[in-house]
Amino acid sequence: MTARTTLVLGGTGKTGRRIVEQLTARKVPVRVGSRTATPSFVWEDSSRWPAALAGVGAVYISYYPDLAAPGATDAIRAFTELAVRSGARRLVLLSGRGEPEAQRCEEIVKASGAQWTVLRCSWFNQNFSENYLLEPILAGEVALPAPNVGEPFVDADDIADAAVAALTDDKHAGQLYELTGPRLLTFADAIAEIARASGREIRYVQVSMEDYVAVLEQAQLPAEFVALIKYLFTEVLDGRNAHLTDGLHRALGRAPRDFAEYARRAAASGAWQG
Ligand SMILES: NC(=O)c1ccc[n+]([C@@H]2O[C@H](COP(=O)([O-])OP(=O)(O)OC[C@H]3O[C@@H](n4cnc5c(N)ncnc54)[C@H](OP(=O)(O)O)[C@@H]3O)[C@@H](O)[C@H]2O)c1
Repeated sequence: MTARTTLVLGGTGKTGRRIVEQLTARKVPVRVGSRTATPSFVWEDSSRWPAALAGVGAVYISYYPDLAAPGATDAIRAFTELAVRSGARRLVLLSGRGEPEAQRCEEIVKASGAQWTVLRCSWFNQNFSENYLLEPILAGEVALPAPNVGEPFVDADDIADAAVAALTDDKHAGQLYELTGPRLLTFADAIAEIARASGREIRYVQVSMEDYVAVLEQAQLPAEFVALIKYLFTEVLDGRNAHLTDGLHRALGRAPRDFAEYARRAAASGAWQG
């Protein structure tokens, strides 16, 4: 019998790409699920989902843009139902800490009838080197409306390690792992560590939400994106997540990678050289 494929949604993104690399190295049959993959997977177009799910036994579900975005709950419900009907027996959900809407999506996956694992994560380190914070870092000034609150940034490599374990080993079924890094840092602290590791001068400026939103609107970013950013930098960063968890230790029996280690690795890879 041929082994069923593992579908990695967001398989070209920060966590998904790493999961695909690890599964491929282990010779686990894997399919990338994203708009640029073949067959393509598009959250807004459910007519494409059956092709992506054909022959699939396990799915890493990374929703885009965020489980707190409008329409996410309906999409997760419809997708998990179809996945289970198509023969998927194991679902691993990437979720976010401190988001009630994400927690509703977790409940949907838990009730799907498949073996489930939830990875409820804090903000990723890699936002600073592979995402929206890279450009301002390269420009030498990061202006954000982030309050002076500590966030336990978590490494995408740690999330990928936990996801691969959950996708390949039954013992993680029925587990919710809350994944954080080992240290609380404010955005100002994180930028200072990156400046140190990269040897660059990078200024951190705290701006008001009104000024930040005005800049985003001026750049003609879609209203839904602006609303999401506003939500993430106010509600999710209001201090509710300013504590560490032992989720990675429970999942993998080891400590999470520290932000300083991430900053050293990213600097060495040339991420902040422009
Ligand atoms: N970033 C964080 O700090 C953080 C923290 C906690 C939880 N999360 C959660 O992680 C998830 C991923 O977010 P991320 O920012 O880290 O992004 P990401 O995974 O780095 O990138 C997005 C991925 O989704 C794919 N994608 C984009 N639009 C799509 C669409 N309409 N349909 C299907 N696939 C699409 C992209 O590939 P293509 O361009 O090829 O389509 C890419 O593989 C979100 O649910 C977010 O809430 C993120």
